[in-house]
Amino acid sequence: MIHPNSEKNPHLPFGDQQNALFYGKDILSVNQFDRNGLEYIFGVAHEMREMVSRVGSFDLLKGKILANLFYEPSTRTSSSFIAAMERLGGSVISINEVQYSSVSKGESLPDTIRTLECYADVIVLRHPETGASSLAAQYAKKPVINAGDGVGEHPTQALLDLYTILEELGKVDGVTVTLLGDLKYGRTVHSLARLLSLFGVRINYVSPGILKMPSEVIETLEAQNIEQMEFETLDEVLPSTDVLYVTRVQKERFDDIDAYESVKSAYVITPDTMKAARDDMILMHPLPRVGEISREVDDDPRAAYFRQMEYGLYVRMALLAMVLGKA
Ligand code: ASP
Ligand code: CP
Repeated sequence: MIHPNSEKNPHLPFGDQQNALFYGKDILSVNQFDRNGLEYIFGVAHEMREMVSRVGSFDLLKGKILANLFYEPSTRTSSSFIAAMERLGGSVISINEVQYSSVSKGESLPDTIRTLECYADVIVLRHPETGASSLAAQYAKKPVINAGDGVGEHPTQALLDLYTILEELGKVDGVTVTLLGDLKYGRTVHSLARLLSLFGVRINYVSPGILKMPSEVIETLEAQNIEQMEFETLDEVLPSTDVLYVTRVQKERFDDIDAYESVKSAYVITPDTMKAARDDMILMHPLPRVGEISREVDDDPRAAYFRQMEYGLYVRMALLAMVLGKA
């Protein structure tokens, strides 16, 4: 369930109870969701997928405008939100290069948000500082969607990751998920671990010693009785893994380049890794990859990372329709 934020939800034009839970709401953290809310989002995402395959685009959000504001690089999140809005008949103000906006003249985040909401109905924000989306949401009267806030969270990625697991494996309960790579700075795994804790999963964390999952995340999941184990090598856990979720070492978050160099090639998934994995395992990655998964693995049917990107389009279409009260 999304936490109520009645100021941004003045009146409902139409819709059912679930629609009311999302209409006008910010999407800032995965902590906002429960299983019912997820079921609803994934149901809408499924409908979006059917509609895209049948008609490509349709006019559900005709007349609505999205401001897509990115202070950090992005290919997938930025373009999938643009595609989502356009496939729903809406339009987009795209600020992907903040250096060409008034941000480079020194304009603050609150003022930038106040500006964009004069023109748009919903704001998608990626920013290098943890908590930036929450700050933006305090100033915005329009819904703000967190598209990644520093090392904090990437909630829409976690939603599409969970949707991928459901579509590929048909269930989440009972699944063993192994999160591999940069668990310290990777915001996608911070969000995904928290979201997975709503289900009966086992989670393995495999990382170099200096890139372990933050203790706050582990303690939160411990309190929810989630079975979690930490490792430095993959071998031991690979045979029992249903979902192998690989991440990039987040070079841009390191102060010490030597420390980055010492861990950047810690894990590489190759055809040999896949031989040791289960036949029904899926291999995921939020992307971009920079060497953690060898290209020779791409044709393995268990490599789900390209399908994962496509699922993101449907989940983001669902989220836009829901926060704008049209799901
Ligand atoms: N694209 C994801 C993110 O922005 C993962 C990554 O960059 O490694 O968090
Ligand atoms: N997965 C992801 O967030 O990709 P981008 O950084 O390209 O948006």
